[in-house]
Amino acid sequence: MTDLPPLRLGIAGLGTVGAGLVSLLRENGAAIADRSGRSIEVAGVSARTPGKDRGVDLAGIPWFANACDLARSDSIDVFVELIGGDEGPALQSVEVALEAGKHVVTANKALLARHGVYLAGLAEKKGLALNFEAAIAGGIPIVKGLRESLLGNSISRVYGILNGTSNYILTRMQREGLPFAEVLAEAQALGYAEADPTFDVDGQDAGHKLALLSALAFGVRPDFGAIHLEGIRGITPDDFDAAEELGYRIKLLAVAIQTENGIEARVSPTMIPKTSALAGVDGPLNSVAVEGDYSGLIILAGPGAGSRATASSVASDIIDIARGHISPPFILPVAKLRQQTRPGMFSHEGGFYIRLSVFDRPGAIAAIATRMAEQQISLESVVQKRAPLDLPGISRAGQAGEPTPVVMITHRTREERLRSALAAIVEDGHVSGVPQTIRIEAL
Ligand SMILES: NC(=O)c1ccc[n+]([C@@H]2O[C@H](COP(=O)([O-])OP(=O)(O)OC[C@H]3O[C@@H](n4cnc5c(N)ncnc54)[C@H](OP(=O)(O)O)[C@@H]3O)[C@@H](O)[C@H]2O)c1
Repeated sequence: MTDLPPLRLGIAGLGTVGAGLVSLLRENGAAIADRSGRSIEVAGVSARTPGKDRGVDLAGIPWFANACDLARSDSIDVFVELIGGDEGPALQSVEVALEAGKHVVTANKALLARHGVYLAGLAEKKGLALNFEAAIAGGIPIVKGLRESLLGNSISRVYGILNGTSNYILTRMQREGLPFAEVLAEAQALGYAEADPTFDVDGQDAGHKLALLSALAFGVRPDFGAIHLEGIRGITPDDFDAAEELGYRIKLLAVAIQTENGIEARVSPTMIPKTSALAGVDGPLNSVAVEGDYSGLIILAGPGAGSRATASSVASDIIDIARGHISPPFILPVAKLRQQTRPGMFSHEGGFYIRLSVFDRPGAIAAIATRMAEQQISLESVVQKRAPLDLPGISRAGQAGEPTPVVMITHRTREERLRSALAAIVEDGHVSGVPQTIRIEAL
């Protein structure tokens, strides 16, 4: 150990992550001091409710009723923001800390996805750290991977399963054949999903993380508004049955890919081959994959949330500061981060899964095939649960005029062509309801 004075932390937020961090520092403090070359001490804490039992011993640690007072206090060197939220006390206290010359560590993806450039600018002006390993995929060390280990590469694609709640719901739907609403209600009763699940199941949480991943991988300004978001509410047991038959799994996949039109970044339910590594990432686990020109495909998997795993990532950010490793939050100085161009999903190219409810009447399938051909879309496979009238030699199980489920997989095509074809198919009146479409990602 050197003669350096202890690194003094101010921790704001003592919930799942904050309490986990205090516990980790108590349990592993001696080893961490050896590794850091100096001891790390908690010099102040702040939360909403004083006196609440948090399962950790806070005796002797100064309490700050106001997080901003802690952020500017002379008694700390590093402000650890574990409050959450993209505005309010989290944003204010981080601003105050950086203005006051304190390094900042945060697990707050929502904050950085919206205000990352501004806050990185504040940190840069004063040569301070703004570290956020825990903000992407909890315990998985992907920020450090991109910030350090993969710096020699040109990255073409980064993707992952970044929301544990959605992955848990999809996994149970797939294994048990249950509808979305039933699994969600159960997950809420067990405390695996929030009472308001919007953030998780509609893709925002994964979108926040993807905005940060994109920035690190491609040298662009983090921009949550540039992420195309689709959630998992519309996925049905029929889709899982079809995916199983066709050799796919359905995951809420976050993908950012360098295209000739800019960086396509999307979070959407996606079919991925059953044989791919991410297909086996089930339940609340997360996984992140990076494709570098020299590294090849790198895949990390592990807990994307939870008190201990997230505290592990926050601790690594603190140890970096203790060792004097300070680097720009998004790798490049803010002035060098490019504005992300948003190509829009119409220019997306790939394969698609389509499920239609086709009225069981002569000519329907032929008319659908014609609409696809008009848009130069070729079909890799077509699966019909019941044979329609216009296929000679095959007997029909359904009632004439009743819709029959038809599932199609397209070869690679441009998304705008598919949307045009489907609009024409609906207009022709051969299908009931809205066609289900799920992008297929070749992994
Ligand atoms: N939970 C995870 O697994 C996980 C994983 C990765 C990243 N994160 C991120 O980590 C952050 C914290 O998440 P969490 O799950 O630990 O949240 P949490 O359990 O809800 O804890 C939030 C804490 O913030 C405190 N707080 C609220 N308003 C405050 C204010 N004005 N001043 C000071 N403290 C205030 C709360 O105080 P009281 O306890 O007194 O109410 C509570 O201790 C979020 O940004 C989240 O996105 C969480």
